[in-house]
Amino acid sequence: MTELKPVTQASAVKATPTLPDAQTVTDVKHWTDRLFSFRVTRPQTLRFRSGEFVMIGLMGDPDPNTGKQKPLLRAYSIASPAWDEELEFYSIKVQDGPLTSRLQHIKPGDQIILRPKPVGTLVHDALLPGKRLWFFATGTGFAPFASLIREPQTYEDYDQIILTHTCRDVAELEYGRKLVEDVRNDEMLAELMGEGFADKLVYYPTTTREQSPRMGRVTDLLEDGTIFRDLGIDGITPETDRAMVCGSIGLNTDLKKILEGFGLREGANSDPAEYVVEKAFVG
Ligand code: A2P
Repeated sequence: MTELKPVTQASAVKATPTLPDAQTVTDVKHWTDRLFSFRVTRPQTLRFRSGEFVMIGLMGDPDPNTGKQKPLLRAYSIASPAWDEELEFYSIKVQDGPLTSRLQHIKPGDQIILRPKPVGTLVHDALLPGKRLWFFATGTGFAPFASLIREPQTYEDYDQIILTHTCRDVAELEYGRKLVEDVRNDEMLAELMGEGFADKLVYYPTTTREQSPRMGRVTDLLEDGTIFRDLGIDGITPETDRAMVCGSIGLNTDLKKILEGFGLREGANSDPAEYVVEKAFVG
């Protein structure tokens, strides 16, 4: 990709990027005109916990004065599980977004920059033991949960996992819907996670702007009790329930209030508790 080539005449010829931290794109899927996912090679030394994020990006445009290029990096949750030999990412496309206006055009064989320093709070270590685990996502906030629903520890540690995903329309749910279906039908995963693991996974998608079987913001469905009635659950309690939240600032703020209302406390890697939150990248 042009972004990673040094700004010299010689680089106009196809060149292998000389930058450190370059990884090769292996697959790209466009889900809607606003959403795409892609896979890249995984650095051999990269170890991460399912749910963590890394900084990824492209080379920025050359500085008009010096001609120097700086990397343009953003935090992206790794959507693939820790055991996968490649890395997967799920991204929004923002037409005037500095990074995603360009990242949306990547093709297999192109290079991206990936800083191999995974971090994040949407990890099992940041939660105290519990019986039921809730994943609350809006939009591309689904990404860390795409990793965690393929992580054996999720099924070892909990009796039930409820994955909620709220999007504007049905097409925006498709990446998650297909992934859940694939997870349920994957024999290799069944071997890895234990027979019957998929029975623990409850998928609860909702839309807010297009008609679908379940409509509404997940926050409203929690507050009016619809979700509990739909799932035959009494409610959320700090004794049994744990939650991970990943979405827009609005969702995160509203859901924090709701979860704290149920008596759950926010945890961190250094101080595990009953729920954890992270902002989904939106630019
Ligand atoms: P809505 O259509 O009512 O705004 P976006 O595509 O803008 O990132 O939003 C993704 C989804 O998150 C949309 O369905 C949107 O609903 C929903 N959403 C936005 N803000 C909140 C919030 N504060 N609480 C719950 N859901 C939210």
